[in-house]
Amino acid sequence: MSIKCNDKFVKSFVEEKEISALLPALKEAHEKIVNKTGAGSDFLGWYTLPDDYDKEEFERIKKAAKKIQDTSEVLVVIGIGGSYLGARAAIEYIKSPNYNLLNKKTPSIYFIGNSISPAALSETLELCEGKDICVNVISKSGTTTEPAVAFRMFRELLEKKYGKDGAKERIFATTDKCRGTLKDFSDKNGYETFVIPDDIGGRYSVLTACGLLPIAVAGCDIDKIMAGAKKAHDELNSCDIEKNDAYKYAVLRNALYNKGKAVEIMACYEPAYQYMNEWWKQLFGESEGKDGKGLLPDSVIYSTDLHSLGQIVQEGRRIIFETVVDIEKQKASIIIPNDPANVDNLNFLSGHELNEANKKAFLATIFAHTDGNVPNIVLEIPSREEFDYGYMVFFFELACAASGYILGVNPFNQPGVEAYKKNMFALLGKPGEENDKRRKELEARM
Ligand code: PA5
Repeated sequence: MSIKCNDKFVKSFVEEKEISALLPALKEAHEKIVNKTGAGSDFLGWYTLPDDYDKEEFERIKKAAKKIQDTSEVLVVIGIGGSYLGARAAIEYIKSPNYNLLNKKTPSIYFIGNSISPAALSETLELCEGKDICVNVISKSGTTTEPAVAFRMFRELLEKKYGKDGAKERIFATTDKCRGTLKDFSDKNGYETFVIPDDIGGRYSVLTACGLLPIAVAGCDIDKIMAGAKKAHDELNSCDIEKNDAYKYAVLRNALYNKGKAVEIMACYEPAYQYMNEWWKQLFGESEGKDGKGLLPDSVIYSTDLHSLGQIVQEGRRIIFETVVDIEKQKASIIIPNDPANVDNLNFLSGHELNEANKKAFLATIFAHTDGNVPNIVLEIPSREEFDYGYMVFFFELACAASGYILGVNPFNQPGVEAYKKNMFALLGKPGEENDKRRKELEARM
């Protein structure tokens, strides 16, 4: 198994019978996933995707990525939520959080349309000045405000710079197969389009064109990513938690939830994991947080955050457990130098590997936090390479779906995200009787 769920540091917090009590619900969850019989079963396309993806489109993704690499210094990726987090997380994890600053042969990649901040948008426009640019606009619905506004700006820029015909060679749209305004608009304007399948929701879509095109432009090997996801799909097919570590993780987090834990903190000792944390937070938060239920997914990068949130983890309210991602193979090796003056009194570390110190920090923290009554689940991940990344994506998606079903929610909808949108459109003066009424109500409350 490529990812191992180590429960050594949870065992003293959860009794065997509390785990066993969840196994019937896990079995049901597994059947709902495999047989498509649970709530939201129309959105299970991600489950069979590693085996059953559109190979013709996959080749087109690779060709488009090559075209973007050959013609551009910058790729602007426009999208929000599930239409952006996965790609950004993959590029930072597989390549580097400093990908854009590295001396590289592939284009810089800027993510925009993921907020309504004028500063963020104008800074990105500034970064693109004088550069050759391509745009990948990603929106399943095609109507999400944040990416739609950013797309207006970048379309205008591209059309001014390259003319309408030139721009159409540089705009790639990833959207619904046949519905929606973005699809219609792209067809009318001759943009190459890619598909987010009907049966895959945004937060489960990173292994579709939604994630794969930007990831391929960054120079990652998407064949290896899909091979890793396939291995996970083939291996994680039993509902015995001794044989399926994704389900073991799902059961452990539910057992801790049932014992009153309210917050799961995902921790990793590798800064390149920061956006994987963000992707994971969306996946689990949007999938489980409904009907008054769900663990709050939070995240840290250690040892950085041991100097900030570490305090509250160690001694705050005991409603927290941690899931620590332990990456075995490191990308770099540094030997700590000797300092003849020994100014910092650290010469006992001279000649040691920095990775060794990082590992000791990991162990020291697990002991400290478990002594402070914070259970720790450890997920052991072999490397930051494409194959293991693909495996990890499928692992978390499967764990999340099973966990949501065990919790008794539909892991594939997100009804709660509409509430702010209704208010925002009413306050912005969107035409319509309902909007007018709502705006008056809200203004009276200001
Ligand atoms: O997970 C989800 O479904 C959401 O986060 C969406 O991805 C996000 O709201 C963006 O939606 P769209 O792709 O329709 O613009």
